[in-house]
Amino acid sequence: MSRLVVVSNRIAIPDGSKSAGGLAVGILDALKNTSGLWFGWNGEISEISGEEEDDLHLMEDNGITYASVPLNQNDYDLYYCQFSNAVLWPALHYRIDLVDFQREAWDGYCRVNNMLAKRLQPLIKADDILWIHDYHLLPFAAALRKLGVKNRIGFFLHIPFPTPEIFNAVPTHDELLEMMCEYDLLGFQTEGDRMAFLDNLKSLADIEDCDTHQHRAFGKTFATGVYPISIAPESIKEMAEGPLPPKMAAMERELRESKNIISCERLDYTKGLPERFLAFEALLEKFPQHRGKVRYSQIAPTSRGDVQAYQELRHQLETEVGRINGKYGGINQTPLFYLNQHFQRSLLMKLFRLTDVGLVTPLRDGMNLVAKEYVAAQDPKDPGVLVLSQFAGAANELTSALIVNPYDRDDVAAALDKALTMPLEERLERYNDMMAVLRKNDIANWGESYLRDLYAITPHSEKHS
Ligand code: G6P
Repeated sequence: MSRLVVVSNRIAIPDGSKSAGGLAVGILDALKNTSGLWFGWNGEISEISGEEEDDLHLMEDNGITYASVPLNQNDYDLYYCQFSNAVLWPALHYRIDLVDFQREAWDGYCRVNNMLAKRLQPLIKADDILWIHDYHLLPFAAALRKLGVKNRIGFFLHIPFPTPEIFNAVPTHDELLEMMCEYDLLGFQTEGDRMAFLDNLKSLADIEDCDTHQHRAFGKTFATGVYPISIAPESIKEMAEGPLPPKMAAMERELRESKNIISCERLDYTKGLPERFLAFEALLEKFPQHRGKVRYSQIAPTSRGDVQAYQELRHQLETEVGRINGKYGGINQTPLFYLNQHFQRSLLMKLFRLTDVGLVTPLRDGMNLVAKEYVAAQDPKDPGVLVLSQFAGAANELTSALIVNPYDRDDVAAALDKALTMPLEERLERYNDMMAVLRKNDIANWGESYLRDLYAITPHSEKHS
């Protein structure tokens, strides 16, 4: 079987101190099967850029080779902060009001993609299969092809793909789309994302559909598919079952004694946090029976703190928390706990299990693994209820959650009331439905089904010879 080479902006280099997250576990499993290679940015900003000969860091662990390079400050600013996270991230999440495009950032984005391709090329063997991840690397296959790489190259987009009306706002959308056609297989989270991608192509070029999943555009043949990413429900369950550390005994008691809503995500404007705070306020306003009895804990560790929109959101949230607690708090009770901190994964799963409602209301989200994790962490005999945004990819699968429109605070407040008062029988029914979905499509299945399709594709060299 051909060796698998995975490329992503960040790579989970094992350092012994922390366990890998859910997605990393999925990728590591796939890599282990073929003694594969994982290549990407090492997360460091260095004086020297990844261009230098001696800055490629190679290590081996558990049969997997990790190869990484640093970025210099200028590349980090232009490629990561600006083009990836202040143009593509907002545009692909339908937030064109936040797009801050500068030609220099586009040039930096392409330059870093070319640089990474140049560094990877000498490590690629003739029959390797390459799997590239996420929006930082849309031009990566095109960069490798320019260097003469003929291997099969697949791509998976972890975030949404928007309709042409939205994506056209990115001034270089046409170049990006053409470059994406250099991949052999483009994987999306949902059918909606896949169709939006094809609509973008249709608005720009003649696209010939060889069949529903095989296409030809810009003289290239490529396939598209839908692979909803998932979790490992059994390992989440195990993490959730263990006891909380002894120093958290008081907290555990408090959680068991009151009704609790929990949310957890990176502090990001796509996650709908201000809207959610207002929905919680509407719950206290419209359903006074819950006042003083329910507590909402929002865990939101800082993310991309060098990008302006993220800094502004943080200030906005801090103000809102103070306002809501000032209005509905009491001497001995705080309705809204806001924790701008990172929590260890296994601790988080235990907290999920101790709470009554998981509130996951992004304004737009590729999939949202927290929604899936919340369900898998529940006590099968006394599960909590998931309140989920209709705009998360996960809503296509977790149809037994209480599905809400995050822009409608009254709708979310009513769903919260329903969740907080839901009888055990209904909670069990919804939980069992969702667990059946999660067991059927777990993270291993996601990786296997994507790679099965990628391995089955005609190699690029044969298609275009
Ligand atoms: C999202 C993206 C990932 C990214 C992660 C963390 O899940 O899809 O590609 O790695 O956010 O963001 P960061 O900017 O810290 O890598």
